Amino acid sequence: MKLAICPGTFDPVTNGHLDVITRAARHFEKLIVAVAANPEKSPLFKTEERLAMLNECLSDKDNVEVIAFDSLLVDLAHEYGSCAIIKGLRAMSDFEFEFQMAQLNRQMDEQIETFFVMSSPEYTYLSSSGIKEVASYGGQLSYLVPEPVETRLLEKFGKGREKPEAAGKE
Ligand code: PNS
Repeated sequence: MKLAICPGTFDPVTNGHLDVITRAARHFEKLIVAVAANPEKSPLFKTEERLAMLNECLSDKDNVEVIAFDSLLVDLAHEYGSCAIIKGLRAMSDFEFEFQMAQLNRQMDEQIETFFVMSSPEYTYLSSSGIKEVASYGGQLSYLVPEPVETRLLEKFGKGREKPEAAGKE
């Protein structure tokens, strides 16, 4: 089976992530969306919350499965028998970090290929950290994130007067 893994922190998932996932899923029999626990990034949302939001947003995609992981990505790929990693690329600013990760992963297993999906133009400016900042000040979120994510951001930040201390960066 042609299976690929799309990893990320997804804190929270944005319309840009969903665009990349949807487009990538058309080219593989199965796409595993892998949510990294990433405690060093102090995520705003717990792993279970990030999984729940992704599951709600992707419930109509039959060949997409959402899982959590806390290991090396190449080890996860071995576990699932996947030889493809999917990453989104927004701008040149993403390139250096993504290039480094792809090379590291390749060094660990050259059979696993990283494929980059270019962000659609309307999402090139979107980032989870930007969205958290907009949410923290009570800004308009509806064009940036799907409805289940907007609801949870509003729950976290209320009307945006107070920033929760745990608001991590991604
Ligand atoms: O959405 P992000 O934060 O850019 O995702 C980063 C992620 C989760 C893909 C990356 O941190 C990762 O692959 N973590 C798993 C640990 C690992 O394999 N590290 C070695 C490659 S850098």
